[in-house]
Amino acid sequence: MTQPERKMRVLIVEDDEASRQFMTTLVRDEGYEVEAAANGADGLKAFENFKPDLVFSDISMPVMDGLEMLEKIRKQSNDVIVVMTTAFGTAEYTLKALRLRANDFLVKPVMPQDVVANLKKYQDVFATRSVERQVFGMILHRELTLQLGNQPAIVSRVVDRLMQETEGRIPPSERLNIHLGLLEIIMNAIEHGNLGITYHEKSEALESSSEVWPNLVKQRMADSPYRDRSVLIQFQMDGECCEWTITDEGEGFNWEEVPDPNDPENLLAANGRGIMLARLSFDELTYLGNGNQVILRKNLPPL
Ligand SMILES: Nc1ncnc2c1ncn2[C@@H]1O[C@H](COP(=O)(O)OP(=O)(O)OP(=O)(O)O)[C@@H](O)[C@H]1O
Ligand SMILES: [Mg+2]
Repeated sequence: MTQPERKMRVLIVEDDEASRQFMTTLVRDEGYEVEAAANGADGLKAFENFKPDLVFSDISMPVMDGLEMLEKIRKQSNDVIVVMTTAFGTAEYTLKALRLRANDFLVKPVMPQDVVANLKKYQDVFATRSVERQVFGMILHRELTLQLGNQPAIVSRVVDRLMQETEGRIPPSERLNIHLGLLEIIMNAIEHGNLGITYHEKSEALESSSEVWPNLVKQRMADSPYRDRSVLIQFQMDGECCEWTITDEGEGFNWEEVPDPNDPENLLAANGRGIMLARLSFDELTYLGNGNQVILRKNLPPL
């Protein structure tokens, strides 16, 4: 049933030679197929020939910059995952890139553990994402309720299943960001909510040797009270919108302090990237109560 997992093809676009080398080696050592280009124009050519599944791109580059390249790439593909690498003090451009439908960003100097975590996350997305099937007739109403244990490894598949419910309704150009937004929020419900792992504990674990983070997750999954908790996902779609309500059994958090994504200065804060990216993809993202419940809303084009 399951197909052998193909490793993603990764394209690095970066004008600084040392950074380009560093990224290329890192990605290759993780076992991915990789190509590199030194500016946006060459990056675009490489995109067309190499057909990458994931692109890491710098923003400011000679000949053609990362924003122009991104715009051209998006005219050809809604499916390729694009992650911008962004220098300190260029938050304005990062926000522009996100509006041009970049999917994520890494702040320079790029840390190897962040790249590795990104590769792992997107490999899972890539391996489980199904092609959109054609929908015959108009689905006027749909509902689905799912209960999920604390298994980060299956979240990608759960999100793919949720996305199938929206086939034919969420436009192709917006599907990838909605997919990734759901992934961030459900991962938060498991990692920060049910398993009670703080931002600090997560960053520290990711900075340590490679087994520390998976071991921390495993440990919590086995310990009481964490192991008995689950995530509830309630989905409904009508003629106007899709709505996902995600509820965990953790202690919640101070969601009022999550940075506003429309203020570029906040993009460089170490904390709160996941929620911020999700905020940009959904029409509404509302935390309820102590923060262990969140409603995501996406308005749909008229029937
Ligand atoms: N369901 C939740 N329960 C408890 N705390 C949460 C929950 N969701 C988010 N948080 C808190 O909000 C912070 C910001 O979440 P966000 O997803 O934006 O970033 P992150 O998870 O820390 O990092 P990243 O998603 O980039 O790995 C988290 O570090 C965590 O402290
Ligand atoms: Mg998160």
